[in-house]
Amino acid sequence: MASADSNLLILNFLTLASLSLFYADKAFCIRIPDRASTTPRELSDQSLKTAVFALGSFWRSEAVFGCLNGVVRTTSGYAGGSKINPEYRSLGDHAESVMVEYDPKEINFRLLLEVFWSSHDPRQVFGQGPDVGPQYRSIIFTNGTEEARLAAMSKEREQTKSRSSILTTQIQQLESFYPAEPEHQKFELKRHPMLLQLIGNLPEDELEVSNLAAKLNGYAAELCPQRIQKQIDAKINGIIRRGWPVLRDV
Ligand SMILES: *[C@@H]1O[C@H](CO)[C@@H](O)[C@H](O)[C@H]1NC(C)=O
Repeated sequence: MASADSNLLILNFLTLASLSLFYADKAFCIRIPDRASTTPRELSDQSLKTAVFALGSFWRSEAVFGCLNGVVRTTSGYAGGSKINPEYRSLGDHAESVMVEYDPKEINFRLLLEVFWSSHDPRQVFGQGPDVGPQYRSIIFTNGTEEARLAAMSKEREQTKSRSSILTTQIQQLESFYPAEPEHQKFELKRHPMLLQLIGNLPEDELEVSNLAAKLNGYAAELCPQRIQKQIDAKINGIIRRGWPVLRDV
């Protein structure tokens, strides 16, 4: 990934050691960045922002964003089309998408755009690799004129990197986002029963909103930057050596 290095800046998982990853009463706990021992601060849903992107299979898209510091939750779903209540086998004109809920104090739309561009091939027409079809098209969804402006600017910048092909990415005002069926949430993580076990075999509804599950979903897909992959590896190996505790943070 071309901008992996810049992503590392926003991915300081070391400081996440103090992060409590519990979800309680519709509030989550986040770290306070500049204090070593902290009592987690409650963050209300209202202080989070939401972004939606389509960049190929939503199994992968969810994993790409789940690993970023500042991303609190990810959800696979359908957006960009007009069909009401799309389903996986009949998604109509929608694209597979990911909704990213983030803490704007830790990450912003501009950085999410960088991750978006560096995590797929926006020049492939209606597909990513072997996944071909309009449901895999590339879209930046925006909310308001400022996001639309940032998206357009970043697309222009990306286009100037090469004139040998044209970016297919569309920029669209977000209308509806339909969460996908439970079996498509944290799909990569669910392929690794050991990781699910390590976080305590959370029930589906908790798994879907868990920050730790979002991060491990990226880890399971090996889509975290290398340094982060290694760090999580080390943590998991430690647990395996020492015996059974539940993994509470990474
Ligand atoms: C769009 O932005 C407005 C104002 O910032 C916010 O209140 C609203 O929740 C946002 N909508 C989505 C879908 O993120």
